[in-house]
Amino acid sequence: MGGQRIRTAVFPVAGLGTRFLPAAKAVPKELAAVVDKPVLQYAVEEARAAGCERFVFVSSMGKSALETHFDRNLELERTLEAKGKTALLEAARAAALPDGALVVVRQHAPLGLGHAVWCARQAVGDEPFAVLLPDELLWSEPRCLAEMVDAHAAVGGAVIATMEVPRALTKKYGILDPGGDEDARRLTPARGFVEKPEPEVAPSTHSLIGRYVLPAETFDLLEAGERGAGGEIQLTDAIDKLVGKMPVHGFRFTGQRYDCGSPGGFVKANLAMGMARPELRAELLAFAREMAGGDG
Ligand code: UTP
Repeated sequence: MGGQRIRTAVFPVAGLGTRFLPAAKAVPKELAAVVDKPVLQYAVEEARAAGCERFVFVSSMGKSALETHFDRNLELERTLEAKGKTALLEAARAAALPDGALVVVRQHAPLGLGHAVWCARQAVGDEPFAVLLPDELLWSEPRCLAEMVDAHAAVGGAVIATMEVPRALTKKYGILDPGGDEDARRLTPARGFVEKPEPEVAPSTHSLIGRYVLPAETFDLLEAGERGAGGEIQLTDAIDKLVGKMPVHGFRFTGQRYDCGSPGGFVKANLAMGMARPELRAELLAFAREMAGGDG
């Protein structure tokens, strides 16, 4: 039984970004640039590449620069046009979302990812939707969400992206409890999900990596506002409750993953994405070799 088309992408961006202090004091961490593009724009482009047409930012006070980034800046465009800077003009235009495509909803207190997703319920309505955590920069061709949306069209229910992590790290992540073997689409049926289990009791090492295709029923499960790990309302707990009610699958992502929510991951993302750019590669490679020289 296949799934309905995914039109709406939800981006939880209401977190405090404490690991990025002092940078995140006034500038939302989601606007930090990896090379020359904000982290959030990579995720929005991934959702567009997957066919999404509505974009819901779950935001909080002091983060209005996030929606401004996706506006058109007509004065800037006129200036670039007059100067014949076509490539930059294209880059500025490509960052804007179409008229009426962006919806911003508020989460007044950071009660957890599950609560942030619940805040999007009215904007999403009664249809399946995608959730993308912009901190996780996932790089692959095709992009991760596009593959998940294709899989969802075939199997329906919920599709949750995963990647292997070392067992010692399971307590940092949501973890999949596999209920069967992986198929040719890299889908594994789920028996359940656990948020941040200790390594000794983790049911697997398949960690959740911030991409979800979820049914509208998820909102009903989040309605009760039950607290989970860390006293937060956890999305993982709601997804665990979907199991048994509909098909729920883990989707194993095989591309590159950069955790831009941590300073180390963010610097790695800059280095990797910079080196992937032909005009920067030689310069960065020479610099990396020079820096590593003393350690060798
Ligand atoms: P994190 O806990 O990793 O991000 O949440 P954070 O709280 O922003 O950052 P730190 O841990 O203080 O450094 C993962 C994602 O979920 C969003 C965050 O914005 C981030 O994109 N989130 C989390 C919310 O929108 N609301 C919440 O209540 C919690």
